[in-house]
Amino acid sequence: MGSELIFRGHDDETQLPADAYSPKPHKPWLSIVRPIRYMLCEQRLIFFFVGIAIATLIFTLSTSSTSKVSHIPTYENPINQYHQSSVALTHRFTFENRGSAGGKIPLGLKRKGLRIVVTGGAGFVGSHLVDRLIARGDSVIVVDNFFTGRKENVMHHFGNPRFELIRHDVVEPLLLEVDQIYHLACPASPVHYKFNPCYKTNVVGTLNMLGLAKRVGARFLLTSTSEVYGDPLQHPQVETYWGNVNPIGVRSCYDEGKRTAETLTMDYHRGAGVEVRIARIFNTYGPRMCIDDGRVVSNFVAQALRKEPLTVYGDGKQTRSFQYVSDLVEGLMRLMEGEHVGPFNLGNPGEFTMLELAQVVQETIDPNAKIEFRPNTEDDPHKRKPDITRAKELLGWEPVIPLRKGLPLMVTDFRQRIFGDKEGLASTTTSTSA
Ligand SMILES: NC(=O)c1ccc[n+]([C@@H]2O[C@H](COP(=O)([O-])OP(=O)(O)OC[C@H]3O[C@@H](n4cnc5c(N)ncnc54)[C@H](O)[C@@H]3O)[C@@H](O)[C@H]2O)c1
Repeated sequence: MGSELIFRGHDDETQLPADAYSPKPHKPWLSIVRPIRYMLCEQRLIFFFVGIAIATLIFTLSTSSTSKVSHIPTYENPINQYHQSSVALTHRFTFENRGSAGGKIPLGLKRKGLRIVVTGGAGFVGSHLVDRLIARGDSVIVVDNFFTGRKENVMHHFGNPRFELIRHDVVEPLLLEVDQIYHLACPASPVHYKFNPCYKTNVVGTLNMLGLAKRVGARFLLTSTSEVYGDPLQHPQVETYWGNVNPIGVRSCYDEGKRTAETLTMDYHRGAGVEVRIARIFNTYGPRMCIDDGRVVSNFVAQALRKEPLTVYGDGKQTRSFQYVSDLVEGLMRLMEGEHVGPFNLGNPGEFTMLELAQVVQETIDPNAKIEFRPNTEDDPHKRKPDITRAKELLGWEPVIPLRKGLPLMVTDFRQRIFGDKEGLASTTTSTSA
């Protein structure tokens, strides 16, 4: 059996006539000519070059889009307060490689979600921001001590694997692996911060979150406030205005606290290369605001719903501008994803006196609601109106919801919370996308 396998065919060979097979002489140049001839046949060469051309084109396009990021137009700083985020562009690359919304994502590839901390995420603004981030596909960790926030504001995300909630006071350090930090934790209403002064939260809390941003290379956004302008001597307020603040008044823990928080933020940016963003938020209203928190819109709405008189402090001629919360959230996200440090005024430039606001509330809720005048509170600013030219130009942002459209959305939510009217619930949860 073994011998058969070895010798099979030998018989045939021996039977061939001697001249039946004459091997061609060995031509070494044939090994070169053959592939060339093969390439020239059937227009293969053309296909080859077309392939190279397409590959070159794709490569060129992808590298030029990347280099656009590295040549972000520098915002010429006409006044010292405005800063471009050039210090930390190297961080930007790391950040974009992780799938930032600011980075260019190749066609056909799904955007990779970011890991984002929202301090104060159980509060009014924070919870709406969390809704948007989760809807965008990011993973969100809310850090909140529930001083003014409520679990109810975020509990519709419970069970979502991309959502986590940590009860924590930002005055204590915290270590988390994240890409972005939206730092909102701070009681925003005078009732709360006069009861429990928030200077420590603003200073130590911001310091801790900046430390975290530095450690893990995260981008940090501070929600500062129009209160940094104090009782302004300039109207409307531009970001370059330095403000007129009482450093020892009843509001100073908030006003000066936020001013210090801005200083710390810029220190970490300039000194440690942390990528930072600063938003100066003007009066914002909407669903999930604390009822009876002393802020004028929530006060008026709650009073009108309960058939109580609307309390106007002073002569009611002091002005404020009111921004609907979804507009603010859009501005915050654009700021975080954009290239500019700020500070940016985020507010609605529509200016109302307190009496005009009371009138809108009467029209929306109860035309018979009475107005009651009370002595004005200490250090209440006379005028507030943002100049949002910078945000328009550099973030492409401006508010789109007027007071008369936004107020009814808030009323629905307040009615539901005050009277347990379930009808309002659906519109409340969808209203931020309005
Ligand atoms: N809403 C506005 O009109 C307005 C205007 C200007 C600035 N801002 C700023 O926006 C941010 C959010 O404001 P808001 O209106 O949502 O206020 P809010 O009071 O509803 O939310 C603040 C959140 O921070 C939490 N918090 C407070 N202290 C904390 C601490 N030490 N540790 C952890 N969590 C803490 C609260 O429990 C709450 O959930 C604040 O920083 C505020 O200063 C808001």
